[in-house]
Formats: sequence, C-alpha cells, structure tokens
Amino acid sequence: MRAIEISQPGGPEVLRMADRPMPQPGAGQVLLRVLAFGINRPDVLQRRGLYPPPAGESDIPGLEVCGQVVSGDLAAGDLRVGEVVCALVAGGGYAEYCVAPVGQCLPLPAGLTPEQGAALPETLFTVWHNVFERGRLQPGEVLLVQGGSSGIGTMAIQAATASGARVIATAGSETKCAACRSLGAELAINYHTQDFVEATLAHTAQRGADVVLDMVAGSYLAREQRCLAEDGRLVVIAVQGGSQAQIDAALLMRKRQTLTGSTLRNRSVEFKSAIARALRRTVWPWIEQGRLRPVIDTVFDAGHIVQAHERMEGGEHIGKLVVRWG
Ligand SMILES: NC(=O)c1ccc[n+]([C@@H]2O[C@H](COP(=O)([O-])OP(=O)(O)OC[C@H]3O[C@@H](n4cnc5c(N)ncnc54)[C@H](OP(=O)(O)O)[C@@H]3O)[C@@H](O)[C@H]2O)c1
Repeated sequence: MRAIEISQPGGPEVLRMADRPMPQPGAGQVLLRVLAFGINRPDVLQRRGLYPPPAGESDIPGLEVCGQVVSGDLAAGDLRVGEVVCALVAGGGYAEYCVAPVGQCLPLPAGLTPEQGAALPETLFTVWHNVFERGRLQPGEVLLVQGGSSGIGTMAIQAATASGARVIATAGSETKCAACRSLGAELAINYHTQDFVEATLAHTAQRGADVVLDMVAGSYLAREQRCLAEDGRLVVIAVQGGSQAQIDAALLMRKRQTLTGSTLRNRSVEFKSAIARALRRTVWPWIEQGRLRPVIDTVFDAGHIVQAHERMEGGEHIGKLVVRWG
C-alpha cells in the first residue's frame, strides 16, 4: 500500500510517499481502507522527532481517519464490512490502509463526506474528555477556549455551545475572531491586541470563566488563574508557550480552583472506547441535527502532504486540514 512516512526528523519536506506492507488487524481491531485522514498539530511534533509514537504503534503518522471497513474482528462490535467509519488511531493514519480498534470506530454521521468525517475524531475525543469530563462544563457555565480557531478550538466552541454553555474564545487575528463568533462564541478576544484576562472578567461581570481550555501553558497559567471563577477548572492540553509555569497557590485555595490536564494518544483502548460511546450518545445526535459541523480549512490530495504540513506550520488556517486519497 502507499503510505506517507517521515524519512528523517525535520521540516515538511521530510514527508515522502513510500510502499509499506498492509497492516494486519489483530483481536478487537478492523482493517480500514482510508478515504481521508486529518492533520493535527501533534503530527508536526512527531515529524520533527519530538513526539515519538507509543510503543508498539506504527511509525507512520496520523491520528484520525475516515475509512471503509475491509476485514477484521467484526464479532468485537457492531461493524459491517463496507461500512464507512470515523476512527481515532494512535498512529498509521497517513496510509491507504490502517488498523483501528473496533471500540474507537464511530459511524460516519449521515450527510457528512469522508473528508468531514476524518476531521472529527481527534478533536472530538480531545474536547469531550477535557472540556466535559475533566472540566465538567455544565449548561449555563462559561468556557474560555484558547486558540478558538484551531481544529480543537472550533470543535470546542461548537460542542460547548450545543451543550448549553456560554463560550469566550481567543484567537490571533480579527478574521479568526470572526470565525469564532460565527461558531457560537459570544466574545472573541484577539490575544495580540487585547488582554484576555481583563476581557474575560469584564464580559462576566468580574466572575470569570468556569472552565478554561488551555493549549499554551507557560506564562498563560497564572493569567488564566486570574480570570477563572470560584470552583473553576483549568484544563491544559498543550504547552506551546512552555511547560514550566508559576501559579498562585493562595488564589488556588481561595477560589477552590482545579488545575488539570491530559494527553489522549497514550491512553488505553478501553479509555478511548468509553469516550467513543459517550460521543455516540451525546455528540453524534448534535452532528446529525446540524448543530455541530467540522470546520475544514483545506482538503489536500495525498500527493500534496508537504503543502498540507506547510499550511499547518504557517498558522493561517481556520479549523482542520484534511488529506484524501485520490
Ligand atoms: N492533550 C491532548 O490530548 C491533545 C490532543 C490533540 C491536540 N492537542 C493540542 O491542541 C492544540 C490544538 O491542536 P490543533 O491540531 O487544533 O492545532 P492548530 O490548529 O495548529 O492550533 C494551534 C492553536 O494554538 C493557538 N495559539 C498558539 N499560541 C497561542 C497563544 N499565545 N494564545 C492563544 N492561542 C495560541 C493558535 O492560535 P492562532 O492561530 O490564533 O495564533 C492556534 O489556534 C495543539 O497544541 C495540540 O498539540 C492536544
């Protein structure tokens, strides 16, 4: 099969098309013919040699696919040969065929294209676990989403809005702020020109956000603490601004704040399958009712994978970058 491999750690140009053996599904797994796959920021880190695949996983990058079930352990679930599914995988997605745990496959929602389906898993599994499970966001509460125009951010805004919460988002340009508002954010803050702490406090009558979804860390944590409400939850999912941070322990106590975070890729199949069940119960109906749609910036052909990674690195995109096999 054709696959896109990382020839050596480096820039987008190290990605190259290669011939690879077909993966073999084991117990509890299915083989998928990949129609489209999503690009995620962690793929960039893996390409640079900074985020190695977990032990036993494919060295081919790619954390999410939309594909057709070809074969495998069909007795392990309710999948049928020929069915098109969206799957979260721990690697191997940048290929014509990919193995996925049965429990991490969800049906392609009615009315969505395979390219849209490929844009769902990584963002929705991440948002569900961090915003709703770790962050325990409730209807009526306020969520502050950093990086609101990212793949993760666009999904967080829509999912939180669909759940009945109120959303404030940050983004790095006026165009990106407008995109956040169009997805449901009641306030979008350009973090280059405005202080998100002051803007969040002003918008919430000085109360602050109940949950913050952070993908910056570093100096942001202390600032986020200042605009986090009493009993607020601060959830860290990336450290783009550095992993070392200072927090105010007195404020943490006084406002009874919770500081938490997680990474998805290294978690067990059982854990991810439980998220898949929750998504199917709660979020899939939102998609089918048209209340939530993946925001897709660009769809590339697989032969243009270098350009796809260049677009991600350039940081101009709004929403997801998706690649299809022609
Ligand atoms: N922990 C997990 O399980 C998990 C899973 C998946 C992804 N992630 C992380 O989630 C993040 C988003 O992933 P993605 O694939 O959606 O990538 P992406 O589209 O490239 O998003 C990166 C985002 O970070 C924002 N950002 C960077 N510096 C910022 C700052 N100082 N203030 C506010 N926002 C800032 C960017 O905003 P502008 O473009 O507006 O500057 C951009 O929206 C990545 O860091 C990724 O590593 C974590």
